[in-house]
Amino acid sequence: MSRDVHNPLLFECAWEVANKVGGIYTVIKTKVPVTVSEYGDRYCLIGPLSYKTAPMEVEAEEPSDPHLAATLDAMRAQGVKALYGRWLIEGAPQVLLFDTGSMYSRLDEWKGDLWNLAGIPSPPNDHETNETIVFGYLVAWFLGDYVARQLTTAVVAHFHEWQAGLAIPLCRKRHIDVTTVFTTHATLLGRYLCAGSVDFYNNLQYFDVDHEAGKRGIYHRYCIERSATHCADVFTTVSHITAYEAEHLLKRKPDGVVPNGLNVVKFQAMHEFQNRHATSKAKIDEFVRGHFYGHYDFDLDNTLYMFTAGRYEYRNKGVDMFIEALARLNYQLQKSGSAVTVVAFIIMPAATHSYTIEALKGQAVTKQLRDTVTEIQNRIGARLFESAARFHGDSTTPLPTSSAMLSDEDLVLLKRRIFALKRNSLPPITTHNMADDSGDPILSQIRRVRLFNDSSDRVKIVFHPDFLNSSNPILGLDYEEFVRGTHLGVFPSYYEPWGYTPAECTVMGIPSITTNLSGFGCFMSDLIERPQDEGCYIVDRRSQSVEDAVQQLANYMQEFTSKTRRQRINQRNRVERLSPLLDWKNLGIEYSKSRQLALRRAYPDAFASNEDEEEDYFGAGERQGWAAPSVPASPRFRGTATPGDMGTLTEEMQRLETSDYRGQVWPGAHEEEDSYPFPLVM
Ligand code: UDP
Ligand code: G6P
Ligand code: GLC
Repeated sequence: MSRDVHNPLLFECAWEVANKVGGIYTVIKTKVPVTVSEYGDRYCLIGPLSYKTAPMEVEAEEPSDPHLAATLDAMRAQGVKALYGRWLIEGAPQVLLFDTGSMYSRLDEWKGDLWNLAGIPSPPNDHETNETIVFGYLVAWFLGDYVARQLTTAVVAHFHEWQAGLAIPLCRKRHIDVTTVFTTHATLLGRYLCAGSVDFYNNLQYFDVDHEAGKRGIYHRYCIERSATHCADVFTTVSHITAYEAEHLLKRKPDGVVPNGLNVVKFQAMHEFQNRHATSKAKIDEFVRGHFYGHYDFDLDNTLYMFTAGRYEYRNKGVDMFIEALARLNYQLQKSGSAVTVVAFIIMPAATHSYTIEALKGQAVTKQLRDTVTEIQNRIGARLFESAARFHGDSTTPLPTSSAMLSDEDLVLLKRRIFALKRNSLPPITTHNMADDSGDPILSQIRRVRLFNDSSDRVKIVFHPDFLNSSNPILGLDYEEFVRGTHLGVFPSYYEPWGYTPAECTVMGIPSITTNLSGFGCFMSDLIERPQDEGCYIVDRRSQSVEDAVQQLANYMQEFTSKTRRQRINQRNRVERLSPLLDWKNLGIEYSKSRQLALRRAYPDAFASNEDEEEDYFGAGERQGWAAPSVPASPRFRGTATPGDMGTLTEEMQRLETSDYRGQVWPGAHEEEDSYPFPLVM
């Protein structure tokens, strides 16, 4: 019996479903509303069950689909533990989480099977690979059992990243009747090679991939990633730069690029997000007063907050370049006698042993001072009122005087609090006790450039080696709230398939700096004529030397410090206007196209008979919901480019079943140009 391909079911599977690690969690979570609006309850996410986070993320529920319920019962009867329910996020999608721990008893059996089936080896002590194997086998088991019961509707199984990808070769080998899509958000080898000291982009075509993977001890992981890539019906990635990388390192040209979006919430009024900036900034001000106590000799009204954030990948995320550029900025500001102070935050989780006493003390002493001032203020208020109320208009009841208002006791108390702010050391760089203080690359670089938070420094640094959350006793803000309160995000990445952090800045109306080695940076410069005019600065890390790139970054930052408040407010407005470019309502269409392509490849007969109908079907989806930002004169887009043009899964390709993405020209890669059938844009 043939399956209905027009109302397919969709299972989307990722290690970061209801399990936050990095940007893939953001992809999945923010995309849910558009996917739910397309699929409704025909959509179910699959992820690993983490007992630490799942109770907060998921509400358990009985499946309404009888086939799914029967499959889960059958698996549970064999010892599999799974949680089925609703993921408590916007869109409330169905979610199925498998407890990998419940099936470690079968690990060895499955490792043997993987070797026999696909020739993929698996060394004994690689926990991440073990998790990948158990998870992959559980998902393939689930899908196989499910489609054996449910015979009427086509099933699209979409997998993200190698850790969720092992089920793909298993589905292929077992002839499970699903169609598969694999989206990679990086390549393992790319990430490893870039973190080292190779000239990655100029040598991409020449790496001996097996040898390089073997040298780094990741050959088995690489095999899993590569087999997922090659066994999937459709292979996609998040940016053109990663498509180029995947073609050379994974040896399959992606079928298309699916750029990452966000769930953009538009405020009714423009000033609303500006107000949010002001209230969040006030909270950061509070932290800064405490952190710099005793050396708080700068004017917060003339202070700018810059930051970088992400997983701790020192070179890949460009932290090396950020710190070097900060040192240059410090020098330039000192030399020009600027009154501006920059506080630069680095938010990157590292191994730590709790907060430092100094960091806690800073917040405590300023809090005590504030409490004391409030108490004195109340007492002065009471005295003032009393004395004013008693006034009769004769000399026995004098008018209130300021000296009579502040009592000697209050003054003594106040002096005690003020003296408690004395400090013999400089304000600390880091808020936490680092597990490896002397060997930490960020701290080492800060020491090398001698940015020690001295009074004479115009650039101060705060390294917060943990992600943020509002219950944090030192910097008590959620990440989003923190970003809103800053002035500039700086993400000079060397390896960044997409890079959500600058994209998130954009939709919150915060300007940012990124590079033309990040997927996001390339995406924006492909769409906008002069991104820097819109508060979206892009450092060239491709065609100029490291020295020139650092200088360009320092210059951008210095240029930013010379802006007036009015100019900053205007720039925030301009940045925020770019957010429709990053909205899933516009970008989600690329995912729809990739699923359609997968269905066409798996069930060509179902599409062959009514081609006209298909055309309408695809046409209806084209540019759905896309509206250019309705703002006069700003920003200037390149030609007719829209986010829809940036994805590459075109109707034409679907019909012809060709496989390509709009390739990148790379310095030194000219011999490849001919093989790209589409216009090449730098
Ligand atoms: N992030 C966070 N808390 C922080 C810093 C970062 O939740 O304190 C999030 C950020 O919002 C972003 C993700 O971490 O969505 C990082 O994604 P990105 O694509 O930039 O990098 P990845 O970690 O995936 O390489
Ligand atoms: C927002 C607020 C203004 C505030 C400004 C501060 O625009 O609406 O009231 O003055 O932020 O901007 P700044 O760039 O100096 O933090
Ligand atoms: C990866 C990449 C990052 C990207 C994210 C989501 O973790 O490192 O650049 O934004 O996936 O696609």
